[in-house]
Amino acid sequence: MEKKVKFGIVGVGSRGLQAFSTMICKRSDAEISAFCDTNALRMKCAAEKLNITPNFYSTITDMVKNESLDAVVITTPDFYHEECAIEALQNGVNVLIDKPLATSVKGCRNIIAAAEKAGKTVMLGFNLRHNAVLKKVKKLISENTIGKVFLIENREFYDGGRTYMARWNRSYEFCGGLWIHKGSHDFDVFQWLLDFPKPVKVSSFAGINILNEDHIPFELTPGVPTGPTCHECPYKKICPDIYDISDELDRWGDEAAKLDGYKKDLCIYTSDKSVHDNGIAMVEYDNGARASHMECFVTPISDRRYTIVGELGQIEASLTDRIVTLRPRWSKEIVTYQIPNEEGGHGGADPNLLDTFIKVITGELANTSTTEHGMMSTAVGEAAELSRRQNRTVFIEELFRD
Ligand SMILES: NC(=O)c1ccc[n+]([C@@H]2O[C@H](COP(=O)([O-])OP(=O)(O)OC[C@H]3O[C@@H](n4cnc5c(N)ncnc54)[C@H](O)[C@@H]3O)[C@@H](O)[C@H]2O)c1
Repeated sequence: MEKKVKFGIVGVGSRGLQAFSTMICKRSDAEISAFCDTNALRMKCAAEKLNITPNFYSTITDMVKNESLDAVVITTPDFYHEECAIEALQNGVNVLIDKPLATSVKGCRNIIAAAEKAGKTVMLGFNLRHNAVLKKVKKLISENTIGKVFLIENREFYDGGRTYMARWNRSYEFCGGLWIHKGSHDFDVFQWLLDFPKPVKVSSFAGINILNEDHIPFELTPGVPTGPTCHECPYKKICPDIYDISDELDRWGDEAAKLDGYKKDLCIYTSDKSVHDNGIAMVEYDNGARASHMECFVTPISDRRYTIVGELGQIEASLTDRIVTLRPRWSKEIVTYQIPNEEGGHGGADPNLLDTFIKVITGELANTSTTEHGMMSTAVGEAAELSRRQNRTVFIEELFRD
């Protein structure tokens, strides 16, 4: 039998457990040798859930020094990506890092320097590139069906996004802002569809319109506040935004949160937050193309809806409806493609991403989601965050000045 790829998972939370560990356990060519998480109980419960017995570490330094790993998957909160990736690389381990690469251009450059020195692979978890709908869009563009693309619009509606305000994602400190945490996916898709021009300048508008105390969607009893968490909230039976983490609580009780104070269901209306609940960002590239990305986390639907315009026509796509429409510029003939469902998270994108990573580190495929791509999407996100905070257009080159 072929040697299995030995993985260490760093950050055994939602993505670490439910996506990557679960997918690795289903494969015959890979195995999980070790978990690393600052919370010992989360690792224990994850191992029990998966029915595996990996070694446990509270720091990545100890993990990479004591294990002979082929790769680590980094699924910690975004702020820790940089230090974890550098530590793994300095110990000669390949890295699959869930987006974003890091929460600043500076952090990305530090990872790139460590990767160059180590000569190891760092692949980005840009799972949208592995989504069959977007792969179809990319293929149609590559086949020159709409000619050279000069304009892209994406509207992202994310009903689950309001739960960002219940967790670490609500803090600029931990995620660098939602233009990086969430938008880096989309800014990467723009660059990928456009064949990687350089982003030049970015403007954005964003803020909190709805997820604040003024918009609590029910009447409060005087002297009875909401929260602090959904499961403790006196209004949990009437709140339409209840964030149900009973599955985790059944497994872990409140014990995991007692170890590190990390509560996953803070009241989304009253939690302290430094990110936006909706916004629009616009980017201009050095090949003259332009793109806009709207993201809204207060919405009843989840979808990404694209319009991509080229010299010879346009393409529209919906990730949820799995429909791609091609409209040639001088013809009434419209072609519609219904993209079949695929098994697995994010419309089948997650297993495709893991499969690609394994093929990259075993030499079967070249890495096409590189640190350079990760850095450019973080750069656009960082510029968008600066733009909204400073009320100005931000030039990407500003972020690269030493
Ligand atoms: N690609 C996607 O579609 C997608 C979707 C969701 C999240 N993400 C990314 O996945 C990552 C994890 O998000 P999540 O929602 O799973 O978070 P989470 O909070 O559910 O899990 C994070 C885990 O990391 C642990 N942790 C914190 N600091 C650590 C450290 N220094 N070392 C080791 N472990 C540490 C926490 O205890 C927790 O168990 C983030 O970077 C996020 O941006 C990607």
